[in-house]
Amino acid sequence: MRDMPVTILGFGMMGRARNAAYANVAKYYGDTPINPVIKQAFVLPNEAESAKKLGWDVNLDMMDAIRSDKSEYVDICLPNALHYSATMAALDAKKHVFCEKPLAISVDEAREMTEAAEARPGLLNSVNYIYRRCPANVFARQIVQENWFGKLLEARSYYNQSWGGPNTGGGWRFDAKAGGGTLGDLGSHALDMLYFVTGLRPSEVVATQVAHVKERMFSVTKEDGSTAREPRKIEVDDGTRVVYNLPNGGIGSLECTRNAWGTENTQGYEFYFENGAIRWCYDDVNYLEVYESGMRARGWRRVLCNQGGFAYCHFAGGHMDGYRDFLTSQCYENMRAIEGMDAIAPIATFREAYEVERTMEAIRRSFRERRWVKLEEIH
Ligand SMILES: NC(=O)c1ccc[n+]([C@@H]2O[C@H](COP(=O)([O-])OP(=O)(O)OC[C@H]3O[C@@H](n4cnc5c(N)ncnc54)[C@H](O)[C@@H]3O)[C@@H](O)[C@H]2O)c1
Repeated sequence: MRDMPVTILGFGMMGRARNAAYANVAKYYGDTPINPVIKQAFVLPNEAESAKKLGWDVNLDMMDAIRSDKSEYVDICLPNALHYSATMAALDAKKHVFCEKPLAISVDEAREMTEAAEARPGLLNSVNYIYRRCPANVFARQIVQENWFGKLLEARSYYNQSWGGPNTGGGWRFDAKAGGGTLGDLGSHALDMLYFVTGLRPSEVVATQVAHVKERMFSVTKEDGSTAREPRKIEVDDGTRVVYNLPNGGIGSLECTRNAWGTENTQGYEFYFENGAIRWCYDDVNYLEVYESGMRARGWRRVLCNQGGFAYCHFAGGHMDGYRDFLTSQCYENMRAIEGMDAIAPIATFREAYEVERTMEAIRRSFRERRWVKLEEIH
C-alpha cells in the first residue's frame, strides 16, 4: 500500500473533520489501495496554533500550499467562492482534487472547473456529496436500479436547519459573492440525493425564494488589523421552495431553509413509485423505510441498513454509523477512484456536481423571472 500525500485547504468544520477521516481510511478499510496522509494544510493566521495541535504542517499561503510538491492531492474545504480558484490552480499543478460542495457559486465557474478536470483524465475529480455514503441511501439506489416498484411518480425532498434566524450574524454563507445562500448550502445535497437514488434530475422547475432577514451584521477586518461589525444587505435566500417536472413524466418538490425551529440538520426524501415507496430521514440515518403495495399486512417496513450485506458496514450489525464514518468512506472511495477501482457506490464527479449547479441556476432564474425554467436553457 502506498501513501497519498494530501494538502488540506481550510480549518473550519470540514477541514478539521478531515483529520480523523483520512487517518481512519486504512484503519476501517484494510484493503485500501492507497493510504491518504495529511502532509500540509492552508489555514488562516488566527487558526495556525490550533492546526499545529492536530500535528499539521501549516502553510499560510494558499497558492503555495496548492502548488507545493509536498502533496499530490488537494482537498478544498474553503468557503464556496474559493472553490474555483483553488481547483483551477490544483489541476494546473497536476494534483488530484477533492472539493467540497457546492462545486462553485455560479454555473459558469462549475462548467469551467468540470471541463478543466475532464481534460486531465488521470486526476481525481470528486465532490463531497457525502450522503451518498449512507448505507440507507445506497440501498435506496439499489431498489431503484433493480426496479422493485416501477416508475417514479412523485418525489419530495427537504433539507432544513434552524440556525439562520434574525439574530444570526452575517458570515460567508450569507454573502452572495462568497457563499450562495441556503439553496447552494442545503438544497444542493437534496438535488444530488434525488439523482443518486432515482437517477433522475428535474427537467423543468418553478420556484420561490425568500430572504427573511434583509440586513445582517458582518464582522470586518480593518486596515490596522482590528475588527468591527457593520450592517450589509442580504442578497441570498434564507429559504427556497421548488416544484419540478421529471423527464419520465413524474413530478416533485424540494424545500430547504435555515429557519425551521427544532431541526438541526433534518433532511430526507419520500419517493413514490407505481408499486411502492421509499423514504429516508437523516435523523434516523441508518434506516430506510420501504412500502410495498400489494402486501396484505400493509405498512412501512423500517429496514436497518447498518448490518451485514449493506454498503460500508465494518462491524457487527446495528453498531451504528454516523457523519464521521461517512466522511471516512468518502475518502476511501477517493483512494479507490485514484487507483482505477470501481466504487462501492459512485462518487460525485465534477460533472455530476455541475448538473446540480445547472438545476440551482434554473431555480434562481425561475424566481428572478417569475416563470417555469427548462433545464435545457442552462449551460
Ligand atoms: N459535505 C458536507 O456535508 C458539508 C458540511 C459543511 C460544510 N460543507 C462545505 O465545506 C466548505 C467549508 O465549510 P465549513 O463549514 O468548514 O466552513 P467554515 O466557515 O467552518 O470554515 C471555512 C474555512 O475556510 C478558510 N477561510 C475562510 N475564509 C477564508 C478566506 N477569505 N480566504 C481563505 N480561506 C478562508 C478558513 O480556514 C476557515 O476556517 C463549504 O464549501 C461548505 O459548503 C460541506
